[in-house]
Amino acid sequence: MKSAMHRDVSFEPFAASDIANYESKFKVAEEVAAMAESGQVIGAGSGSTAFLAVRAIASRVRHGELHEVRLIPSSLESEMTITGLGLVQADLAEVAPDWLFDGADEVDPDGNLIKGRGGALFREKLLFASCQLRRVLIDPSKRVDQLGTGFPVPVEVVPRAAPVAIAALKAIGAVSSVIRTGSGKDGPTLTEQGNLLLDCHFEEIGEGLEERIKAITGVLDSGLFQGYGPEIIEV
Ligand code: A5P
Repeated sequence: MKSAMHRDVSFEPFAASDIANYESKFKVAEEVAAMAESGQVIGAGSGSTAFLAVRAIASRVRHGELHEVRLIPSSLESEMTITGLGLVQADLAEVAPDWLFDGADEVDPDGNLIKGRGGALFREKLLFASCQLRRVLIDPSKRVDQLGTGFPVPVEVVPRAAPVAIAALKAIGAVSSVIRTGSGKDGPTLTEQGNLLLDCHFEEIGEGLEERIKAITGVLDSGLFQGYGPEIIEV
């Protein structure tokens, strides 16, 4: 199935050889692709696991197992993967997803998440806020007892507000807030909204921290996902 806008630009954001824990991610991607049903609108996350899931859905469509499926992307990366594979996109402004799938950087025992390693946290959170059935795909390396064990919390902030936001983050327990720099470009990483990302380490990530971060002037959102109750799918 091809969209009217399909331009035959193939886009492979991740090579299999570069994907950590490829076997586990591949299996979990196949598992979630098998949950897709014809006619559904599905939110598609970003990152390597979500990429493999989009690819697995495209394969089912190609084999005639799925019809009339539309995917809502969570980043330019996911949008280009979806269209590059000939799948049909839908727009969050026009339709809400029946369910979504996405990866995560860390998952605690209560299903709270850190996301945003790839910088797509804002549109990913927009998708999380737009439907109730959120399927999070993980390999065993993503399980932690305490969030913040291996990854910082990314915070997307309007550039002009960065100094004020960094001070405010410190006041709510950030031990460090480092402006993320890019690869393939000198200087700071700019998000798809034209903002900076601060990678923040906190003394402790307790209940309500997501809201406290979000309340800071100049902060668009963070990669902390607390209390969304996702269905965790792990292979
Ligand atoms: C994208 O910005 C992230 O939120 C990803 O969803 C997360 O980093 C998981 O990525 P992998 O599936 O590549 O591990």
